[in-house]
Amino acid sequence: MPKIRELISEEKVNARIAEMGAKISEDYKGKEIHLIAILKGSVFFACELAKRITIPVTLDFMSVSSYGNSRESSGIVKISKDLDEPIAGKEVLVVEDIIDSGKTLNHLKPMLLSRGPASLKLCTLLSKPDRREVDVDVEYIGFDIPDEFVVGYGLDIAQKYRNLPYVGIAEDDE
Ligand code: IMP
Ligand code: MG
Repeated sequence: MPKIRELISEEKVNARIAEMGAKISEDYKGKEIHLIAILKGSVFFACELAKRITIPVTLDFMSVSSYGNSRESSGIVKISKDLDEPIAGKEVLVVEDIIDSGKTLNHLKPMLLSRGPASLKLCTLLSKPDRREVDVDVEYIGFDIPDEFVVGYGLDIAQKYRNLPYVGIAEDDE
């Protein structure tokens, strides 16, 4: 069992999400926004963010899996659950839990763009800039974090710890 050391407290995460919600509401003023939450990790973040957005919000979900081991992304992304609704003409904001190598979003973005949204931007709770292998333009980033494996607030190790209300570093020790 790994030991979890708190990196970002629940208060700090929630405060930052409130700021992001306010900024997004301002940036998209007069429009409607269509959030696409990438399952499962971004669900906790997406719900909290959606509650802080004051313009009309619609929500859809997509599940992608990337081949490779659980701690590394291969960049080959398979859609295992597609969106329920078309996104043509919509102001789409893709909501991710964390951007690591950048490969997942780098692969997903052109796929979604080909469906003709009015706009497509990316939003992530966490980003590990030191780990980036491909360049992705991310409009909204909650926190830049160091190159550590983190859990909580939706992030998991082998499906566990998603429900922690804070973000913690999973320290290897048995
Ligand atoms: P990328 O394609 O390398 O940017 O991978 C992003 C995906 O890898 C995220 O959506 C997570 O599922 C997973 N991931 C990357 N770093 C972490 C971490 O520190 N904790 C939990 N999952 C992670
Ligand atoms: Mg994920």
